Amino acid sequence: MRAAFLADFDPDAPARAVSVGERPEPVAHDGWEVVEVKAASLNRHDLLTACGAGFVRANQLPMILGCDAAGVDSDGNEVIVHPVVNGVGWEGPELLDPHLSLLSDRHPGTFAERVAVPRRNLVPKPPGLSFAEAACLPTAWLTAYRMLFTQAAVRPGDTILVQGASGGLSTALTALARSAGVRVWVTGRTEATRAYAIEHGADAAFEPGARLPERVDAVMDSVGPATWMHSLKALRRGGVLVVSGATTGREAPIDVTLMFSHSLRIVASVMGTRDELRRLVAHCTLADLHPPVSRVLGLGDAGDALSTMQAGDVRGKIVLCP
Ligand SMILES: NC(=O)c1ccc[n+]([C@@H]2O[C@H](COP(=O)([O-])OP(=O)(O)OC[C@H]3O[C@@H](n4cnc5c(N)ncnc54)[C@H](OP(=O)(O)O)[C@@H]3O)[C@@H](O)[C@H]2O)c1
Repeated sequence: MRAAFLADFDPDAPARAVSVGERPEPVAHDGWEVVEVKAASLNRHDLLTACGAGFVRANQLPMILGCDAAGVDSDGNEVIVHPVVNGVGWEGPELLDPHLSLLSDRHPGTFAERVAVPRRNLVPKPPGLSFAEAACLPTAWLTAYRMLFTQAAVRPGDTILVQGASGGLSTALTALARSAGVRVWVTGRTEATRAYAIEHGADAAFEPGARLPERVDAVMDSVGPATWMHSLKALRRGGVLVVSGATTGREAPIDVTLMFSHSLRIVASVMGTRDELRRLVAHCTLADLHPPVSRVLGLGDAGDALSTMQAGDVRGKIVLCP
């Protein structure tokens, strides 16, 4: 079958690390199922993997990229793939499994005509979402859902700050929070990304580091050191900073005095559970939410898609259709 895979890593030009060609057909072991991929969406996780900064080691190459997919299972059902794979025999909370991996970390990913996944990871695709829209949900939108509704427990009437305006996760945070009656402020690096966020539901958009009209109940930060101090200073007393990414680096300073004097909380968040994915799908249906897809490309364009993401030019989501 045809797939976009890594034969090597390239930290300088990750697009060069991507090959498109024939790979062996996936094998469905016990409890697994082969899904015909109709659409797969790109995440920064794929960029990190191609740079060699992800979880794939050189001895695992070649590895098919891609965490997210929507497609058709062997019974003809339209499905969305939950990309979190637990270790054999793990019975604890799925996101606390020490052997947890995402598709493309240990098992071949979704940038392929077909992918093998644990059967329990399949969630029905609602008819109201296209395959391209549904393929955006499993990583960026699921992470946003958990950050907002599980980790920050936002309520209608709250105000949040989202660091980042136009990326996949930022767009999902804005749309989901807005649909739940939460006031959303974002920071964006350019006028164009700020305008994009307003067009897609943000109530106001600010330059990075800008003084806000008032302090917020919660901040969603996946950018890291570039925005971290602003995030902490933007919180009201007792507010929560939910952290899910390190786009600009791994280490960020903490003003310890500010933390305890303002009773701030920092909560880390990774992906979401299968149950949260089911509830996200229901939420999208009930609120008539459609993830914004800026480009639909072929598998052969996987390298170009990574370059676009590396250049910071993503608006919403990029989707690949085999
Ligand atoms: N914990 C998890 O489970 C999880 C799941 C999904 C994603 N993530 C993480 O979340 C982050 C975003 O992922 P994504 O897929 O949404 O990526 P993306 O589509 O490329 O979006 C990047 C976002 O970061 C913002 N940003 C601000 N400063 C930046 C800088 N100096 N360089 C680059 N971007 C900057 C961008 O703002 P503008 O809008 O102004 O361009 C944009 O909104 C990544 O770190 C990813 O690893 C984590």
